[in-house]
Amino acid sequence: MIVAIDGPSGAGKSTVAKAVARELGFSCLDTGAMYRAVAWRAVQDGVPFDDDEALGAIARTQEIAFTHQPGEPLPSGVSIGGADVTAAIRTAEIDRAVSPVSAAPSVRAALLDQQRRIGRAGDYVVEGRDIGTTVFPEAEVKVFLTASDEERAHRRVRQNVDRGIGSIDYDEVLADLRARDERDSSRAASPLRPADDAVMLDSTGRFIEDIIDEICGMARDAAARSSR
Ligand code: DC
Repeated sequence: MIVAIDGPSGAGKSTVAKAVARELGFSCLDTGAMYRAVAWRAVQDGVPFDDDEALGAIARTQEIAFTHQPGEPLPSGVSIGGADVTAAIRTAEIDRAVSPVSAAPSVRAALLDQQRRIGRAGDYVVEGRDIGTTVFPEAEVKVFLTASDEERAHRRVRQNVDRGIGSIDYDEVLADLRARDERDSSRAASPLRPADDAVMLDSTGRFIEDIIDEICGMARDAAARSSR
């Protein structure tokens, strides 16, 4: 089964996706981390963000791998071309680079193939922007998770404080987040938008545990329907 969780940055997708996967005993795929890894490589190599061919070549040839702590079923790290980039992909520099890189059609085509291959290997919670619309339009459960801009910016600041990386200036984080939403929603290739059959969940002012329970309930209902 595929549980697709899409939505803008800071809506709580990663936290929710991991908790849902843990609860259901599924694997979890963070597709944003894959775009971030390609953006990191592009920055290292000085590849211009409008060079679709060169960006696509990175996505096609540099292997992206998710790494696990011993005994942990869910991945906690990511590497590209053998380089561990778990922390390096969460900086403000990569926050800015990833929007143009993820708009490159050849990057999207290469990562789409990889995401489908990974997700089809088992039961997965897959989080991103275009999972329900493009990557797994046949997903049994589709959620579009949102929250107000202000709440998303507050969460991102707290996350950056906890991780010790990224900006902790609320106004800067809010402006960056809005600019990224605008670019992600207006790009030609797989823009951020809910699938027609996605369930819209607004996490503003709600306990994250309620959202997790609601999605687990949807997945259990979908499993019961398909076994009937
Ligand atoms: O979820 P995130 O903030 O780590 O995503 C990083 C960027 O990657 C974000 O700007 C949008 C892009 N992205 C995408 O275009 N398609 C996806 N399926 C996942 C992420």
